[in-house]
Amino acid sequence: MNLVKTGLSGVGITLLVFSLASGQPPQCDPSKVNTAETCAKCHSNEVQTWKQTPHFQTFEQLSRNPEAKQICSNLGLRSVKRSDVCIDCHFTTKEIDGRVKAIAGVSCESCHGASVDWISIHNDYGGPMATKEDETPEHRAARLDECTSLGMRNTRDLYLIASSCYQCHTVPNERLVNVGGHNAGSEDFELVRWSQGMVRHNFLRTEGEYNAESDSSRLRVMYVVGLIADLEFSTRATANATEKSNYGLKVANRAAKAAVKLYEVQQRIDNSFVQSALESFAGAELRVNNRASLLVIADQIQVAGRRFAMSSDGSELAAMDELLPDPSTYK
Ligand code: HEC
Ligand code: HEC
Ligand code: HEC
Ligand code: HEC
Repeated sequence: MNLVKTGLSGVGITLLVFSLASGQPPQCDPSKVNTAETCAKCHSNEVQTWKQTPHFQTFEQLSRNPEAKQICSNLGLRSVKRSDVCIDCHFTTKEIDGRVKAIAGVSCESCHGASVDWISIHNDYGGPMATKEDETPEHRAARLDECTSLGMRNTRDLYLIASSCYQCHTVPNERLVNVGGHNAGSEDFELVRWSQGMVRHNFLRTEGEYNAESDSSRLRVMYVVGLIADLEFSTRATANATEKSNYGLKVANRAAKAAVKLYEVQQRIDNSFVQSALESFAGAELRVNNRASLLVIADQIQVAGRRFAMSSDGSELAAMDELLPDPSTYK
């Protein structure tokens, strides 16, 4: 039996065929994590901004939270900081002397990727004497692409950064929700609204002068990227549903809602990658115990999302401006 009806079966026209990417959700490999202190040497403004957010604060606060204790006790877990289930999303973990330990809340590397392999390359403008002013756009693109292949999630492929948000904010764990009593993700999570308030740290583009607001072109790309990533990760979460109850219903509903919003955007911007994501999703049967098929569809949506993020600078998307959230609603 289907968990929800999507009502989207009429959207298909052209079918674009992509080779599948790795399809894995983003990870933050504990054996390759530095620390936020490592970043602070050159990114002190970003670190200051981060320290004002619940992402930082959850490290100290979660284990004292009565609701967290209740969730742990429902699941038969002894402590938040030593339980693998909680630390995956609430903390950054690092391997120290062969043991994986929680070292911070949701930190730089939780969103931008574990940095051991890319940290010394990501700021290399082309040798020790080269400066930012000397760097060609081609060198910059190649530098950031190389960092991506080494696990960095940077602004060249916004879809990858967005994937880290949705990986956590969809809470794709049936037992944690149904037995533990954890919420089934942040139900009203939308990338522009949730990233442009307290989370925003755009100091690089102003050379540290101030925390810039993103321009409307970037916000358009971000809004679309967020909806495609929501579709991908809600579909992944639905793939984990084995019983028709709270968890399964919530995540499937969320997938259907993301599709409806994305369809609304597509009617205005008529973009081939958005079309492709919607067509893949139109084939999804949002029912329990449908794991293999839903994961294939999620992988296809991911390919479309990354191609969209890499191909659009937003200047051609003005027709969707009325759909952008009002700045007064930013978190
Ligand atoms: C030695 C100084 C230094 C350290 C340490 C450092 N960075 Fe950077 N980082 C830079 C510079 C310089 C740039 C700007 C590069 C440019 O102009 O594109 C940058 C750019 C970035 C960007 C933006 C790339 C883009 O355009 O999308 C991210 C994200 C980033 N750093 C994350 C980190 C994280 C996370 C850490 C810690 C794990 C870190 N950096 C440590 C110097 C550093
Ligand atoms: C898949 C990611 C994920 C896992 C795993 C996870 N959480 Fe969460 N948790 C979240 C997110 C995201 C929020 C924020 C939800 C919101 O309010 O938007 C959250 C919020 C919470 C909150 C309420 C917010 C607060 O801190 O006041 C508690 C309590 C909590 N989690 C406890 C736990 C415990 C205990 C575990 C382990 C048993 C756990 N979580 C595992 C993602 C996760
Ligand atoms: C590693 C998991 C993880 C990642 C990645 C992540 N978050 Fe979170 N986020 C959390 C958790 C857990 C909380 C709740 C913390 C708490 O209150 O204890 C949270 C809280 C928040 C809050 C505060 C919400 C509130 O109501 O106070 C915002 C805003 C937010 N996240 C935005 C984002 C955005 C935007 C991204 C991606 C750019 C992102 N998050 C990536 C786990 C994550
Ligand atoms: C919750 C997820 C999250 C966390 C945590 C996070 N970032 Fe970011 N970062 C983002 C997002 C989203 C962007 C904006 C991408 C865009 O607008 O293109 C970004 C952009 C950046 C940029 C480029 C800003 C510019 O002006 O273009 C730098 C540099 C950066 N982050 C460094 C850091 C550092 C250092 C930390 C740790 C203190 C950190 N980030 C923590 C999600 C995160």
